[in-house]
Parts: sequence; structure tokens; C-alpha cells
Amino acid sequence: MTNTGENSPNAPFEPKIAGFLCNWCSYAGADKAGAAQMAYPPNVKVIRVMCSGRVDPQFVLEAYRQGADGVLILACHPGDCHYKEGNYRGAQRHRLLVSLLRQFGIEEARCRFDYVSAGEAEKFASVVTEMTETIRSLGPLHNSTNLGRTGSGDNQCSNGKILTPSI
Ligand code: FES
Repeated sequence: MTNTGENSPNAPFEPKIAGFLCNWCSYAGADKAGAAQMAYPPNVKVIRVMCSGRVDPQFVLEAYRQGADGVLILACHPGDCHYKEGNYRGAQRHRLLVSLLRQFGIEEARCRFDYVSAGEAEKFASVVTEMTETIRSLGPLHNSTNLGRTGSGDNQCSNGKILTPSI
């Protein structure tokens, strides 16, 4: 996948964002936003995970390698994680991740962690809209980063884990 995607080289930049959504809260919030036919940009490709604590930093790096311009990680609110501490670990990992990303020349704003509950359809739409506009203003990632491909397959992380779906 390339940043131009289905667009021609002269088409306006359309951000590609990988969205890791916790099954129990944020995914349900996204579902509710869809059911309510709320308007928000179609730029986030949703990857459902059981908990934000399941988002291995390598998943995020692989998303960038596969062409994402930004990554969104959405979690249950503090105290609401179905696995008790998963979202705390997810938030902590995110803080470490953004400092790692800086070493690859990836701006902090390209990786956002936020909380969206099952009832917060409006917040989901708002976060997606903000993230899309942020990435749009930053421009395509691969023009400015030295993050290279290391996986042996299109859907394979460098540790051999399979990451699906590709975006
Ligand atoms: Fe939702 Fe852990 S179950 S963040």
C-alpha cells in the first residue's frame, strides 16, 4: 500500500489511519456512531483488539511500515477496563512508544491514545475527525521518515506475528 492509495499522484492527500479499538468500549462506541449514521471521515481503518493493553508497539510500527500515516489507539476509560489494568498499561506503552517514534522521525501527533466508551459515539466521531485533520496537516508519513520495512511478509511483524488486516 502506498500513501497515494487509489488516488492519482496529483490527487489531494487522504490520510490513512490505523485505529486499534478495544472491543468492549471503543469498538462499541464506533458501532454506535455508525448505527446513528454520524458523519465522520472514513480515513480510519478499524482493527478490533480485546483490550488497548493488547496493542503491542510492534503492531503500531508495522502499521506505519504498511503505509499508515497515523495510528489511533482507543481504550476504555480509566477504571472501566475489562481486564482491570489493560488500559493503564496501554497508556503507559503509548508514552514509551511516542518517544521511540521520535527516533524514527515520526511526529508524536501521528500516534494518539484516547478513551472512548461504548456510549460515546459523538466522542468517537470527534476523535476520528480531529485525528484525520491532524494527519492531513502533517502530510504523508513516508515522505519524512526513515522507518523501513523489515518484515518478511506483507502482514508479518518483525517478530513473526501476523498482523491483520492490512490497511
Ligand atoms: Fe477496554 Fe481494556 S478492555 S481497554
